[in-house]
Amino acid sequence: MLSLFSATLLLLASLSHTTLADQLPLSPSTLIGSIPHLGFGTWNLKVSHSNTSDAVSAAIQAGYRHIDCAAAYGNQKDVGRGIKEGMKKVGLKREDLWITSKLWNDHHLPAKVEEGLNETLKELGLDYLDLYLMHWPVGNAPDGKLHYDYVQTWRAMEYLPSTGKVLNLGISNFSPTQLRELMHSASIKPAVHQMEMHPYLQQVDWLMHHRRHGIHVTAYSPLGNSNPTYSPDSTDLPPPLLQNKEILAIAEKANCTAAQVALAWGRSRGTSVIPKSSHVSRIEENYGAKTCILWNDDTKRIEGLGEKYLHRFNNPSRGWGVDLFEGLDGV
Ligand SMILES: NC(=O)c1ccc[n+]([C@@H]2O[C@H](COP(=O)([O-])OP(=O)(O)OC[C@H]3O[C@@H](n4cnc5c(N)ncnc54)[C@H](OP(=O)(O)O)[C@@H]3O)[C@@H](O)[C@H]2O)c1
Ligand SMILES: *[C@@H]1O[C@H](CO)[C@@H](O)[C@H](O)[C@H]1NC(C)=O
Ligand SMILES: *[C@@H]1O[C@H](CO)[C@@H](O)[C@H](O)[C@H]1NC(C)=O
Ligand SMILES: *[C@@H]1O[C@H](CO)[C@@H](O)[C@H](O)[C@H]1NC(C)=O
Repeated sequence: MLSLFSATLLLLASLSHTTLADQLPLSPSTLIGSIPHLGFGTWNLKVSHSNTSDAVSAAIQAGYRHIDCAAAYGNQKDVGRGIKEGMKKVGLKREDLWITSKLWNDHHLPAKVEEGLNETLKELGLDYLDLYLMHWPVGNAPDGKLHYDYVQTWRAMEYLPSTGKVLNLGISNFSPTQLRELMHSASIKPAVHQMEMHPYLQQVDWLMHHRRHGIHVTAYSPLGNSNPTYSPDSTDLPPPLLQNKEILAIAEKANCTAAQVALAWGRSRGTSVIPKSSHVSRIEENYGAKTCILWNDDTKRIEGLGEKYLHRFNNPSRGWGVDLFEGLDGV
């Protein structure tokens, strides 16, 4: 117990960017409940129906209590079956899990927001979500034109907690200007902002900004460019994060794997991380990041990678014909 406690202190002390004052939210968090900092991602889980359910069930059996879903992933029925199966195998109640899902761009019109939630709950086979995110600050109007009025969409989302079907509201992929605009007119502050974040896209100032405003950050694609849909679009891409020599050296020293190092680093910054895998061995390996301890000099080395290889992998700006992430790193 004592050694676990001192390891935790050392872990906190190894947060080398910040003073303790920086880490204390100046504005209180509105988060209801506590979001488990190691979650399971479900994008691209679709080899087959049963494969998807098996992976989600395996994650719950491995110890994950936070599942990250989205209507856009097109697999919520299978994910929902996996959740049921995992809960049954481990003997859990719904309240033991944290389930996030996201409003897709085709349901941004205020009149369609509640329908989006209803469909997601039906697909997942659940009565409520712990967290509902606006997936992108960009919607599609029925005429096919882009609809940018995310403030109006948010206002419609603000009604949802009163229905009892959602505990927390949040956002994903917002820029500083978009967040400022939202906060200016919102009556419910986003409890969580989910964004791309990993050793190649560290976004220190942006993370600090959220800490000051009491908004929890969830790091997506925490394994960097491991997601094969982040296909090379240029010749000077950084080396695959999990094959990066520095990460491998830290992993060897810490007796962890490269994936565990990337995830432990994300956890050490107070963000939640949501790695996806369709393989049981990796699902278990990634959960093992909970006991991977990094030291001050390890995090210093990882900071260096952020400067050397800075890269944002998920940016649909060009395809969608919209400006995204304005003012942020790696754009
Ligand atoms: N809000 C958003 O716009 C947004 C955007 C992107 C992602 N997300 C969420 O974040 C989750 C995670 O991000 P992501 O799926 O992009 O990427 P990721 O979790 O960083 O990486 C997933 C990839 O890494 C591989 N992998 C997983 N564990 C591994 C290990 N231990 N060793 C080697 N390879 C490993 C997986 O392969 P296998 O599956 O073959 O094992 C998969 O191809 C998503 O699933 C989704 O829930 C949200
Ligand atoms: C899902 O399918 C892939 C490819 O066939 C396989 O390698 C993997 O082990 C399967 N995962 C699960 C959880 O059954
Ligand atoms: C959503 O479902 C609720 C029941 O949970 C229902 O009262 C409501 O009318 C539905 N809203 C839409 C827009 O479908
Ligand atoms: C390293 O990790 C492995 C797997 O988690 C464990 O079995 C082994 O005992 C660890 N070795 C040391 C020296 O801690």
